[in-house]
Amino acid sequence: MDDLDQLVVRAQQEFAAAPTPAELENAKARFLGKAGRVTELLKALAPLSVDEKKSRGARINRAKESIEAALLERRQAMAQAELDRQLRSEALDVTLPGRRIGDGGLHPVSLTMQRIEAIFASMGFDVADGPEIETDWMSFTALNNPENHPARSMQDTFYVDMKDEQGRWLNLRPHTSPMQVRYARAHAARHAGADPMPDIRVIAPGRTYRVDSDATHSPMFHQCEGLWIGENVSFKDLKAVFTDFCRLFFETDDLQLRFRPSFFPFTEPSAEIDIAFNSGPLKGKWLEVSGSGQVHPNVVRNFGLDPERYIGFAFGMGPDRLAMLRYGIDDLRLFFENDLRFLLQFK
Ligand code: PHE
Repeated sequence: MDDLDQLVVRAQQEFAAAPTPAELENAKARFLGKAGRVTELLKALAPLSVDEKKSRGARINRAKESIEAALLERRQAMAQAELDRQLRSEALDVTLPGRRIGDGGLHPVSLTMQRIEAIFASMGFDVADGPEIETDWMSFTALNNPENHPARSMQDTFYVDMKDEQGRWLNLRPHTSPMQVRYARAHAARHAGADPMPDIRVIAPGRTYRVDSDATHSPMFHQCEGLWIGENVSFKDLKAVFTDFCRLFFETDDLQLRFRPSFFPFTEPSAEIDIAFNSGPLKGKWLEVSGSGQVHPNVVRNFGLDPERYIGFAFGMGPDRLAMLRYGIDDLRLFFENDLRFLLQFK
């Protein structure tokens, strides 16, 4: 190997060892630049004879061409490596499924409310909505629950820092029973003069509020009021309606109802309605699902109706409890924490 062959090999090695394009250009300058090794060799031809210049010059030029070829090859290899790196880092898997916007779904309590409304609508009940901030008269007095009566303390009522026309504090309704009064009065007024008045048959689902908070009580909870008033509506109608409702709601006939004597100022007699399943995980356990009773004559009078003529029943049930029973949920607070892991199970 003569000196020119060695020079070519050295150039190849240095080009291969250059880690970056800038270093490669530095290496190129060392061999092919104005002060580079090849230029030095050409300058060194000066003192030689014409023949020697010719043969040595031709060999230097071949070496120079080899060095240029090595440089070009190394440049292309570097460019290709850079392109490969870029392609890898920007890789796009076009076979991945697209990201979709979530569909959303109804809250389990909303699903339960819808179910209750559909069932009662199928039995000929109207569905009514009313205010959550109530007057003292609507929440209590009209419901035969006079001021200073101890029964008022059955409900730990939230009061609003604002008074009604009678100068009494407004309240966050502690039950949906005011809707009995609102709906019945509007119905009686609408049908004034009709003889007989068409029956009042309504449910009023909605939010209710009490100062209460544990695993089975929330300061905001839901109730669904029911009211059926006519000339001949009795406890047996309550039993029939509520039994049908429970069977439809829980999708089973394999359950029993129990009317347990109780007290409410606005009904007489009054009863708690308990249900028990004859099979399944809750088999044999009595569960309270609703308050109920025959509407008190004083309340019928406050409806604007004659209690000697019109009679009927009311109930107030807890949709939150019904949802817990239907879905097997043991803590009411889960409904109101809005944890997606909980809610997504009802989609
Ligand atoms: N309002 C009662 C309660 O909140 C329930 C009820 C409604 C009882 C209608 C009888 C009749 O506990």
